[in-house]
Parts: sequence; C-alpha cells; structure tokens
Amino acid sequence: MKHIRFLLTAFLSALLTIFAVTACNPGGGNNTSSGAQTLTMATSADYPPYEFVDSSSGSQEIIGFDVDIAKYITEQLGYGLTINNIDFNGLIPALQSKRADFVMAGMTPTEERKQNVDFSDIYFEAKNTIVSKKDSNLTTAADLNGKQVGVQLGSIQEGVAKKIQGANVKPLNRISEMVQELKAGRVDALIMEDTVAKGFVANNPDLAFNTLPNEGEAGSAIAFPKGSELVDKFNPILAEMKSSGKMEELVNKWFGEESPASKAS
Ligand code: ARG
Repeated sequence: MKHIRFLLTAFLSALLTIFAVTACNPGGGNNTSSGAQTLTMATSADYPPYEFVDSSSGSQEIIGFDVDIAKYITEQLGYGLTINNIDFNGLIPALQSKRADFVMAGMTPTEERKQNVDFSDIYFEAKNTIVSKKDSNLTTAADLNGKQVGVQLGSIQEGVAKKIQGANVKPLNRISEMVQELKAGRVDALIMEDTVAKGFVANNPDLAFNTLPNEGEAGSAIAFPKGSELVDKFNPILAEMKSSGKMEELVNKWFGEESPASKAS
C-alpha cells in the first residue's frame, strides 16, 4: 500500500513538473500540441504590400510580403508562427521586453537601432519619396521649406524629414492616418517609401509621388532581441530564398501589377 502511494506521488509530481515547464516555456513562444515551438512576430500592419490587414476577405488576417517571408522561414525551421499588430514605434520595445521573437515591418537596419536590437541580412531595398497632392508642385526636399510634412513616428522617414530645412514635421502613428491628413489638407506632403507610396498613389488619383535622392540607410531586414540565436538560423534561409528564386517569386507577387495589395490602400 505504502509502495503504491509512493509511486503515485512520484508520478503526480513528475506530471506537475512537466506541466510547470510547459507553462513557463523559457523559449518565449507557445508550445503547440505537436511539440513545435511557436515564434511571435510583431509588425505594424499599416504598410501594404509589406504587411496589411486583408479587409477584402473580411478575415482581418494580416498578409503581405513580410508575412509570406516569415511563414516560409518559420516553416523551414519547424516553428509555428503568431503575428501581433502594434504601432511601428512600439516594435523595438516589444523586442527589448521579449514580447516578440522577431519583427518584420519593412524595417531598415540603422546604426541607431543596432544599439538595441540585432538584424538579419537585408532582404529588400527601397527609396524614399515625397507624396503630395498632384497639383501642389512639392517635388524636391527644398520645396518642403515652410511646409507641414507627415511621417511615421519612429521611422527613418521621420529622421529624413527633420533634416529638411524649414520643414514642420508632423509624426503620426499609422500610415493610413498620414494619407488621410494629406487628403484633408492638414499636411502638405508625406515622406514615404517608394514601394508603399506607389500603392497609395494608385488608389488615390489626386496624389502623386516623387523619389528623393538616396541618402544614408535604406532597405528592410528582420529585427531580433539582442543576442537572439534566431539570427543565425534565419540568415541561411533568407540566402536560400534569394538563390532559389523564392524571393523573386514573392517580390513579383507583392510588388508586381497583380499584387493583392493593389486594393488595400
Ligand atoms: N523603412 C522604414 C523604417 O524602417 C519605415 C518602415 C515602416 N514600416 C511599417 N510597417 N509601417 O523606419
């Protein structure tokens, strides 16, 4: 009898330990029933075609170029994937507090950000543009002297705008808010990446964009908490995507004429 009670206690405490370990889950993700770990990606889903909410299907699902890349990489590595949608300005703090395992948000790997997070290799290049009303003739940085200029809070475009002589910079949380401010005439121009500007201009015939000469940092990379082991796991898959043609396929899907993002903005 005593023997059985001992065995039962041992069995129960073993079960409890398993429970406790699964619940604490030091890896930061959730364990699914299959035993695969789930990684949490944080993004700012206001950036078609990189990431945006698929309103056309009514599903509210976050889709886009970055999402397809994230799905591909995590699948190859055998992880599950959860996506959290937060303001762009909150993405680096989310990594620092380990609320996310990685960030994909068309994020540029700047020297300043590298002090707080680690980056993968660059997977896509972009240029900055001025978006304005078609008839406004605001086409160069010099034209923005004395003008209200909308930018996304915490973006490199905020930094670019602040260097333009005489520009009154208005940082906003979401790209859609910026477009609304411009259409309503509360700002005169926006600074935005070409790939994103293209979509908004195609859907808003009253707007136009002009490319700014390339100064400083550009392009997108995946961000991780400092010291994350995921960087060395993600980079080889990014390289494989580039050499196998998978990346080109996704670029054509999301940045080409038939892009599912063409109705997003
Ligand atoms: N590439 C720019 C940056 O890193 C803008 C990225 C904005 N991304 C977004 N999902 N809203 O600052």
